[in-house]
Amino acid sequence: MRSQHSRLGRGVLGLVAAGSLVAGLAACSSGDSGSGSGGSGGSDAASAVDCNVGISMPTRSLERWINDGEGLKKILDDAGCTTDLQYADNKTDQQISQLQNQIAGGAKILVVAAIDGDTLGPVLEEAEKQDVTVIAYDRLINGSAAIDYHTGFDNEAVGALQAGYIVDQLGLEDGAGPFLFEPFAGSPDDNNARYFFSGAWDVLLPYVESGQLEVPSGKAPASNDDWASIGILGWGSDDAQAEMENRLSSFYTGDEKVQVVLSPNDSLALGIEAALKGAGYAVGQDWPIVTGQDADKANVQAILKGEQAMTVWKDTRVLRERTAEMIASIVAGEEPETTTEFDNGATTVKSYELDPEVVVKDDVQTKLVDSGFVKASDVGL
Ligand code: BGC
Repeated sequence: MRSQHSRLGRGVLGLVAAGSLVAGLAACSSGDSGSGSGGSGGSDAASAVDCNVGISMPTRSLERWINDGEGLKKILDDAGCTTDLQYADNKTDQQISQLQNQIAGGAKILVVAAIDGDTLGPVLEEAEKQDVTVIAYDRLINGSAAIDYHTGFDNEAVGALQAGYIVDQLGLEDGAGPFLFEPFAGSPDDNNARYFFSGAWDVLLPYVESGQLEVPSGKAPASNDDWASIGILGWGSDDAQAEMENRLSSFYTGDEKVQVVLSPNDSLALGIEAALKGAGYAVGQDWPIVTGQDADKANVQAILKGEQAMTVWKDTRVLRERTAEMIASIVAGEEPETTTEFDNGATTVKSYELDPEVVVKDDVQTKLVDSGFVKASDVGL
């Protein structure tokens, strides 16, 4: 006889195909006692794996991680899984001790968006010893053989989309320029940041070298490997603002105006935009192209006001659904569906990778509002 968990898994997969993951999970768990985080989903002896899931997110300070953590927890809770959701305030030690507690508390699956991908090795190896399945969520984790799966977006494509937008808008392929340009990179401890940068720099570095993009601050890495030299640790808006203020006041003299800024994500873009405002830049006059990533509400508002040119949108609702689907397969003792795999330096990690897409002002209604990703009223539409 198949267990609750096996039914959970098969049900999820069937219903995902029918496009109703949440309802499907809930229906599958109807024989269980609860809908909350203490549901009895983990108690069936015949299960391949108990549906007892520790969710470890980096910080509550960014909108996307709140949505990611709470959204995934809700799908799993509705299915009767046991869940524990923790946020680590962007502190690695805190994330390690939260993971230790989740392992000690009986988690059989860990979903981890790592703050520092390089420092979680020992705690995840402890998880592996206890037969806990580890899913690296959104952020790749390198150097640990304890990582079983990854779900996320194509990180290099994020950077390539930002850079491609810059190339098109400025007409760089037609030889236009020179343009004054300032590149930024993400947090040096986040493994994704390297790939965002290399995706962008593969496209933009040739134009820096040709002189079509001039970097007055000199903060233009000579190669992709030097990206961390311009990284903003912790992805903080305030730090990005301080860095941009410093570049503008120290390197832009006379009539010089920055014309284009590569910002790897929306939290940095907000800080960069605040620095531009502070330095007297005005939309419609001398405001530069600023890129972003995530489609956070404040940045969608900035796009509508013309302060941010674009964002790379990652539909994290789909990411959560794919992750829940992966969990359902693991619980059922089946091999999860994956689309690719990567070598993390210690093992080959199977990954379900999703495609990001560009959102500009004209797309806000059609892509973000109509799909329900943001509410019109939240972004002032
Ligand atoms: C995520 C981005 C996010 C950044 C800062 C990255 O790992 O992929 O979506 O903007 O972290 O939290």
